[in-house]
Amino acid sequence: MSFIAPSILAADFANLQRDIEMINRSEAEFIHVDIMDGRFVPNISFGLPVCEAAHKHARKPLDVHLMIVEPDQYLEAFRKAGAHILTVHYEACPHLHRTVQHIRELGALPGIALNPHTPVELLSDILPDVSLVLIMSVNPGFGGQKFIENTYRKIEKLARMRQERDLDFLIEVDGGVNTQNAALLTRAGADVLVAGSFVFKADDPLATIAELKKATTMA
Ligand code: DX5
Ligand code: ZN
Repeated sequence: MSFIAPSILAADFANLQRDIEMINRSEAEFIHVDIMDGRFVPNISFGLPVCEAAHKHARKPLDVHLMIVEPDQYLEAFRKAGAHILTVHYEACPHLHRTVQHIRELGALPGIALNPHTPVELLSDILPDVSLVLIMSVNPGFGGQKFIENTYRKIEKLARMRQERDLDFLIEVDGGVNTQNAALLTRAGADVLVAGSFVFKADDPLATIAELKKATTMA
């Protein structure tokens, strides 16, 4: 079984309250919030006010994915805006240990995200300090992209590192998740599946979340 984290990047922003309430009623465990700055990634999504607005209606933890340069400057603000999990990119943090400690001090759970080209082995020395590792299964910046197959190997490797060292961080996978790959991802070791367009472009998003969940329980 894996947790499901629908990404509101693919929601209807003019009906954000309605879409958040749909997630509240669904079998999803988290609400994934994608923050893009147009610098770390070649796209701008939304920022603090939208995160705050989502938090006002959310009855599930906000899983905030910061795709921004110099995230340290904004950690406190996103925590105040309702972030429960705060995930920064490995590639954006020269002092990752300090960043992770800062997130904990703010009372949030620290996560680290890896771009598709970044090997999981690079996290070896920070793994005991984190609550979550997010493996990007597309290049960050846009929803609706094709899943990168090498992701399975990365998840398996990371799951092995976790087991060998008796650690307990969550493994999250983000990008191109659907009912075709959900069970395989769970079997590889993923604990949290992010899904944006597969959920929100479906005719029945609520039923689609249930289908994703079911796929992972049968894995
Ligand atoms: C991509 C974001 C993802 C995105 C996933 O940069 O980090 O969370 O919303 O979207 P889909 O599920 O459409 O690939
Ligand atoms: Zn994301």
